[in-house]
Amino acid sequence: DTFTATQYNTNDPTSFAHTSARERWPIIITQGIDDVHRSTHSAQDEATQTEGKWIVSELAKLKYELQHDRELTPIMDDGEADVDAYNKELAARGTPRWHSVPWLYSECYLYRRISSIFKQTKQWRSYDLFARQKMATFKSSRPAVLELAARYRQIVTELASKHTIKGAETDEQLEEAEKVLFTEICEICLWGNATDLSLLTNLSYEDIQKLQGSEARKASEKNILVNDLGKAFRILRAAQKTGKKERRVDIVLDNAGFELFVDLILAGYLVASGLATTVVLHPKSIPWFVSDVLPADFVSLLSALAAPQRFYGTQSEEDKNAGKEAVPLSEPEDSNLQFLFQNWSQMHAEGQLMLRPNDFWTAGGSYWRLPKTEPELYQDLKESELVIFKGDLNYRKLTADAAWSPITPFVEAIGPMGPASGVRVLALRTCKADVVVGLPEGEDERIKKLSGDEGSDTRKWAWSGKWAVVQFSDGKT
Ligand code: F6P
Ligand code: MG
Repeated sequence: DTFTATQYNTNDPTSFAHTSARERWPIIITQGIDDVHRSTHSAQDEATQTEGKWIVSELAKLKYELQHDRELTPIMDDGEADVDAYNKELAARGTPRWHSVPWLYSECYLYRRISSIFKQTKQWRSYDLFARQKMATFKSSRPAVLELAARYRQIVTELASKHTIKGAETDEQLEEAEKVLFTEICEICLWGNATDLSLLTNLSYEDIQKLQGSEARKASEKNILVNDLGKAFRILRAAQKTGKKERRVDIVLDNAGFELFVDLILAGYLVASGLATTVVLHPKSIPWFVSDVLPADFVSLLSALAAPQRFYGTQSEEDKNAGKEAVPLSEPEDSNLQFLFQNWSQMHAEGQLMLRPNDFWTAGGSYWRLPKTEPELYQDLKESELVIFKGDLNYRKLTADAAWSPITPFVEAIGPMGPASGVRVLALRTCKADVVVGLPEGEDERIKKLSGDEGSDTRKWAWSGKWAVVQFSDGKT
């Protein structure tokens, strides 16, 4: 990680790290406890129940340690290779306390600690304590999902049958139309991130629905402070024009549910338009920052789309509790969702869409470490035309979560992932944490003023997911 700038720390009252450690994390653990409690209650066999109770007590202990500012303790050996690296780093950091520890390491440690509790059991080893929340929020994104499914079907069908987009008659017009669509879909992917569940501790479902509608997206364009999508498009188009047969785009995923849904829309569009020939998705291997994608979330999403009427048309336990009636889908809605299922399963079956997990994504450090700690993955990413990093945490990891001046160039703040890395990086990030780089001079001050934070040391505007940056680095010298 960087030594040029200091990493954000949970002891800094001006940073979102401070609030996170004291307010958000205990709520997240409590929600996890409730979930395991529910599953334990409905478990049929005694072994599962006994282990479930043990998990609840371990989670409660963790919450106590966090709230009482105890030391971070070594993670128990759960048989996985990454425990050692976490514990060595913990020792090297001098066994810090929860309320005075670098934010990035401690937040990763938190989720790795939670995972180790489950991995020490027999019946709950692969249990995801956040799965319920993820699926429930996806369900509540129904209006946006239906709107996008209809548009996607139309675009992909036209590209497949006529190799064009409605209204485009010449090659130039087609190129322009493809660029517009690329930009729009990427922006949908960008804002799809504004609604991750780790921030849901202060967002209502109504807020989420508002954030996802197309009107909201248009209105939000002015909130994208830096937008390098044009550069990314040019890279993909140039590669396509060389006639190169294999052209890969990688997406380092962030959240499941609606965000994964829109990421798949992007993946499908890239392949249908010929901007890429394959898309590699990088999910997490353990439940991570509440809503991040696990391979099982990909499967659940496809299963929901395979039988959409069953998914939307029946009242779930959550719906019942929220007093929501199940409203059946209309015939075209049902058929559009099934189209998505067929389209994406086919891409998956034909190897145009791949899932490639790696422990690196759930390690405790920043992406500055990639070339040294995971040379194979590094090599693999170099082969991609474009590596898209989704969301806030990926951005924090790219920039080492450090207090850079906001006018530091993006390519500088991403260190070894920047110039001469050979990796083409595109970050699609809605801001939910303090670190922001690559802004024009005076921009931070302008937004502080707009947000009523003029002259303050705190960059509160960057915590809410209302503002975004889309930044590109071409990886050349
Ligand atoms: O800022 C809140 C927070 O939970 C951070 O801890 C984390 O970086 C981020 O949001 C998670 O958001 P995302 O899902 O966009 O990475
Ligand atoms: Mg996330």
